[in-house]
Amino acid sequence: MDKLRIRGGRTLRGTVRVSGAKNAVLPALAAALLTDGELTLHNVPRVHDVTTMFRVLEHLGAEGIVEDGNSCRVRVRSLRGPEAPYDLVRKMRASVLVLGPLVARFGRARVSLPGGCAIGERPIGMHLSALRSLGATIDLAHGYVDASAGRLVGAAITFDQKTVTGTENILMAASLAAGTTTLRNCALEPEVVDLASLLTKMGARIGGAGTDVITIEGVDSLSGAEHTIVPDRIEAGTFIMAGILAGGDVTVEMCRPEQLAAPLDRLRAAGARLEIDGERVHVTGGADLTGRDIITAPYPGFATDLQAQFMTVMTQARGFAVITEAIFENRFMHVSELKRMGADISHDGRRAVIKGPTPLAGAQVMATDLRASACLVLAGLIGEGWTELNRVYHIDRGYERIEEKLLALGAEIERVS
Ligand code: EPZ
Repeated sequence: MDKLRIRGGRTLRGTVRVSGAKNAVLPALAAALLTDGELTLHNVPRVHDVTTMFRVLEHLGAEGIVEDGNSCRVRVRSLRGPEAPYDLVRKMRASVLVLGPLVARFGRARVSLPGGCAIGERPIGMHLSALRSLGATIDLAHGYVDASAGRLVGAAITFDQKTVTGTENILMAASLAAGTTTLRNCALEPEVVDLASLLTKMGARIGGAGTDVITIEGVDSLSGAEHTIVPDRIEAGTFIMAGILAGGDVTVEMCRPEQLAAPLDRLRAAGARLEIDGERVHVTGGADLTGRDIITAPYPGFATDLQAQFMTVMTQARGFAVITEAIFENRFMHVSELKRMGADISHDGRRAVIKGPTPLAGAQVMATDLRASACLVLAGLIGEGWTELNRVYHIDRGYERIEEKLLALGAEIERVS
């Protein structure tokens, strides 16, 4: 099992280029199920979750997926079988994104319930009730979702709360339904907008993506398309915080700063020195930081996927910072690991209080989920001595070549098998 070893204290300098967004490419790959045409995707990050989605698609019937650097070509002419099996879905709950496309195009889907993960129970009830509204019959048995339908029929649907993959699943399903679907209380995430732009290139008729209300006029079929995946705003935010903690001067390029408005606002309010220049963010480290409170929220609020990384920054800020995790019920596993490195944090349920600044000491730490791993890498960059991050497969799920990118910025980091 690989681990990352990081010696803290090095000053980061230079430019890092953000990869394509994992959470945009996963629904884009699922969209390949909606057509017998070929999808060509560019700016695809080489991360484990993408490889897992390739496996799921091949299991369902995708012809040999061609990968060429950060591009891939996917085609699903026919269905080998409607089942996304447990051993693949348990590795990546985003596999649930094949549900909508399978029912819409083939009238059949058998997808393992994703089950919980480290950060929470992660139910999919909103996905299922919305599919029922489109006319699908949904049964739950033996840990699987069994869905079947004739042609789906457009409907008016309002989500009880914002759900990113729920919005994406229904966006895809409604694209092939008969008639018009109106989705209300949709997720506004840039990854939803990116999926809508891909579906439009495939021939879907979608209006309002990126707003609370999305209207989809179903069409009889969709064609293949070529699409470049949006940059990963979470990776961009992670490297910006690396620059705040351990810069020198770091430039994060190929990012969309407007998609990071809430996190950048809070980081600036804490005293971080950031300068936006088009698709670049220049970070100058060494600023005196002050504790600032955040509450995670659906986009455009403070992204829950940047909460753990922000906590590492707050360990170096003067005074108190209160972090409220309002999206997931158990997304503070990184707290105990940061405390082992010397952080002063107390937490109950959904609220953590960080008192800073506290010097961090390198330690053997355990990654528990993708973003907690990133927060521990940031802590390792400033921890005195060596930090050893175990279970690094978590970070490989969502960060492309993170040690190479940090090495290029001057960090002392190595992967140890
Ligand atoms: C997406 O997960 C992202 N994953 C997550 O990123 C991200 O943290 C999350 O959105 C929130 O922004 C992908 O896009 C592949 P939700 P998703 O449905 O869609 C509850 C990462 O690190 N809920 O928006 O699964 C749910 O439990 C990952 O890259 C229901 O109750 O999240 C959560 O509390 C982690 N019923 C809240 O809604 C449902 O049917 C938001 O979940 C669906 C969701």
